[in-house]
Amino acid sequence: MHKKMLAPVFLMILLLQTMNAVESSDFVIQEATIDEIQAAFKQNKLTSKTLVQFYIQQIRKLNPVYKAVIEVNPDAVHQAVKADQERKNKVPKSGVGLHGIPVLIKDNIATKDKMNTTAGSYALLKSVVARDAGVVEKLRDSGAVILGKASMSEWAHYRSTNAPSGWNARAKQAVNPYVATLDPCGSSTGSAISVAANMVSVSLGTETAGSIICPSSANSIVGIKPTVGLTSRAGVIPISQRQDTVGPMCRTVTDAAYVLDAIVGYDKNDAVATRKASKYIPKSGYLKHLKPGGLKGKRLGIMRDYPLFGFGNDTETLNKFEKHFDTLKQNGAILIENLEIKNFIHILILMFNGKDIALAAEFKVALNDYLKELVTSPVRSLADVIAFNNKYADLEKIKEYPQDLFLAAEKTNDALVTPYEQGSGVLAIGGYPGISVPAGYDKNGDPYGICFGGLKGSEPTLIEVAYGFEQATKLRKPPPMP
Ligand SMILES: *[C@@H]1O[C@H](CO)[C@@H](O)[C@H](O)[C@H]1NC(C)=O
Ligand SMILES: *[C@@H]1O[C@H](CO)[C@@H](O)[C@H](O)[C@H]1NC(C)=O
Repeated sequence: MHKKMLAPVFLMILLLQTMNAVESSDFVIQEATIDEIQAAFKQNKLTSKTLVQFYIQQIRKLNPVYKAVIEVNPDAVHQAVKADQERKNKVPKSGVGLHGIPVLIKDNIATKDKMNTTAGSYALLKSVVARDAGVVEKLRDSGAVILGKASMSEWAHYRSTNAPSGWNARAKQAVNPYVATLDPCGSSTGSAISVAANMVSVSLGTETAGSIICPSSANSIVGIKPTVGLTSRAGVIPISQRQDTVGPMCRTVTDAAYVLDAIVGYDKNDAVATRKASKYIPKSGYLKHLKPGGLKGKRLGIMRDYPLFGFGNDTETLNKFEKHFDTLKQNGAILIENLEIKNFIHILILMFNGKDIALAAEFKVALNDYLKELVTSPVRSLADVIAFNNKYADLEKIKEYPQDLFLAAEKTNDALVTPYEQGSGVLAIGGYPGISVPAGYDKNGDPYGICFGGLKGSEPTLIEVAYGFEQATKLRKPPPMP
């Protein structure tokens, strides 16, 4: 779950900056994309080991301020050395994709290694997971380096709906690298901040309702919330089997497509959902959809209920956002103005209204299943964790909404367009995918994203649209140094 509220003012710790942006060769790691890193590997300008050591250095320097990383993998350098060796030996999977690329994993995604998997909570510290999460297994198969665990809103906001975004007992309060007083949003807070502030190449987040889209928007990165079931949820500390999904959080759409390619697909430990969604995976992968002219002919549904969309009375930012519609049109998109979605407000309220969170009932069942599977654990049931009330009535209501959702959109639209995370409620409820792309900064320097959402399995279309927008605007800039 995500939750937006004003974070308290944080004291910024001034750090002496050393010039470690520049590597030993002319290759600059800061802001480097996966394509650039793989090219540098090939040209012997960079090794995975150097890359991992650089990021560990960055984490040491920046994490006391940002609290984005909860644990660094003690085996990360070793994994990087192994990747370098494989590349030297021309092992088939090396030299491409995520091979040798450091990835940070949200702390609710299980890793069967020296690291803990705790959702930010002391309750699960020292629990031992049965196996790697399905997505982690796929990352390891691709040759990615597991750099560490990203901090998050504790229990993905289920410990207390009043806790600020990005807070957990273990790492404390995560801080937005652009504007320290701005809500970094959650629950995939550390996954977003670490990528934004160049503490890792790419990361994984999870979303139940807004938890990838919102922090991506607030920290000026690209986040993909995949169709539910496209990525395995096995080994992910759960909230709702209907809504939970794991997705890439990266600096560019291209990097996100690389990560998505690596983590999608069938997993026997999340068999029903991953089998059902596997029909959506394009045979030749997602990278093929990063093409010039991706916006051409795309029908984009625009929802113009702006007060709801978080611009408030900031007409200056609203006007700037409106210009994006011109850009989309100039690049060949067809805008469907004033799209309406039945029950939109009800859904927003159901998803994000503090105490009456309907997902609570599903959380209880799902979490108890996760806890039972642990090899060792200090807690075994949710009753051990929190006192609890069921909300079954709301749950039934939620199950009805997807039917009228996108009913009109299904026939007329390729993608729904909304600013910030405002579309995430409807996307969550339907198990629908969405992509957030950096869309600018307001007069305070607060980042905001544009979100493209679609029906189940529409990732190829959404990637074409998101890539088209990104290439036409290129608005992301790295945050200032603290
Ligand atoms: C996992 O938690 C244990 C117990 O607090 C701690 O000793 C250990 O350092 C943690 N692992 C890592 C990689 O931080
Ligand atoms: C916007 O302005 C109106 C009228 O000036 C005011 O009533 C309203 O509270 C303002 N809304 C916000 C979000 O600031």
